[in-house]
Amino acid sequence: MKFVRFLMKNAALANVPKHIDHFSKFSPSPLSMKQFLDFGSTNACEKTSFAFLRQELPVRLSNIMKELNLLPDRLLTTPSVQLVQRWYIQSFMEILDFLDKSPDDHSVLDSFVESLETIRNRHNDVVPTMAQGVIEYKDAFGQDPVTSQNIQYFLDRFYMSRISIRMLINQHTLIFNGNTNPAHPNTIGCIDSLCDVTEVIRDAFESAKMLCEQYYLGAPELELREMNCNLLSFPFSANNVRDPIQISYVPSHLYHMLFELFKNAMRATIETNEFSNNLPPIRVMLALGGEDLSIKVMDRGGGVPLRKIETLFSYMYSTAPRPDFGDNQRAPLAGFGYGLPISRLYARYFQGDLQLYSMEGHGTDAVIHMKALSTDSVERLPVFNKTALKHYKVNLEADDWCVPSKEPLDLAIYRVAK
Ligand SMILES: Nc1ncnc2c1ncn2[C@@H]1O[C@H](COP(=O)(O)OP(=O)(O)O)[C@@H](O)[C@H]1O
Ligand SMILES: [Mg+2]
Repeated sequence: MKFVRFLMKNAALANVPKHIDHFSKFSPSPLSMKQFLDFGSTNACEKTSFAFLRQELPVRLSNIMKELNLLPDRLLTTPSVQLVQRWYIQSFMEILDFLDKSPDDHSVLDSFVESLETIRNRHNDVVPTMAQGVIEYKDAFGQDPVTSQNIQYFLDRFYMSRISIRMLINQHTLIFNGNTNPAHPNTIGCIDSLCDVTEVIRDAFESAKMLCEQYYLGAPELELREMNCNLLSFPFSANNVRDPIQISYVPSHLYHMLFELFKNAMRATIETNEFSNNLPPIRVMLALGGEDLSIKVMDRGGGVPLRKIETLFSYMYSTAPRPDFGDNQRAPLAGFGYGLPISRLYARYFQGDLQLYSMEGHGTDAVIHMKALSTDSVERLPVFNKTALKHYKVNLEADDWCVPSKEPLDLAIYRVAK
């Protein structure tokens, strides 16, 4: 019996590349925040969601698996990347099992929810495992600019795809696992249709502050200002309480971004003002316009030179000592170098962005831009096509801008003899 199962598993595995080829020919279908909310509203239909996901999840998985295969062989064969690849193949096959099952059968729908939960748990550690693979590769083979650029390009797309797949899985499992959440009536799956942005800012600040106090025995204070342009003439409601700034958003995504920005701002503030009795506060400006909701986090932590700003978004860059991967004793304040790049992905996932403006010698402003309207918040998803393929084939070509020489030009050779 065991042997038969072994043969069947191997036969199924042999067909995987064919299935990946098939599904990767479809482009992923981005959903808007409004569509996510509709999936979970009163007329939520589990059958529709099931039918959509059993097609869409293999499409998203196979699109990114195709790109994974384009990584340099020496990275692809590290034990960590192999492990990640096995997780993807296994999850892909588990979803394909549902292709020929009937949506009218309740037990099918229940086992689909269970499978999705298993898949989500299997992929919990994808980010640190992938990071470990990249470190193993760089430690063994060093880094060259072309490979580093490919890895950066790939990881941005890979982690974005992962964010989107987890979002789909979370929505389906949270909405259809039979438990309602009476404490949060506005919450549909992991989306809060009335997400109170100020509250999330304060929560994230408090958590970062606690962590910062553990490390440095002190932390800067928060100064928060809000501007709601939609209420310019009536900034206060009838009972004279300020109307909260609310949008439809995933609070955990917003929290993640703010927590990372606050940790960075606190570390810079403390390390730059080591010998001062007064730590300059971290100022936050929250503004809601007709199209954008923006949050600016301003610190006086000495800033970063312009030349380095883009490097800060590199998955390999950190100025903090690298923490131990297995060190679960204490959450590190910094050190993996993943804070900014992953936060920027969360911002971009719903068509927003995260940008840094720094003045070296003074401090840094980090701005999160989000779409204010749920109709504008549409998933931003990578698609595997010829343009993507071209990115992996770049060679180190000559720059089309002059590279200034280190030696000053000797103008004497141009001197015309008198
Ligand atoms: N507000 C800031 N002021 C000065 N430097 C910053 C700031 N935010 C980020 N940095 C720099 O960018 C690097 C990368 O940040 P991040 O991606 O959050 O990773 P980590 O915090 O783990 O190092 C930091 O190590 C730090 O050198
Ligand atoms: Mg950080």
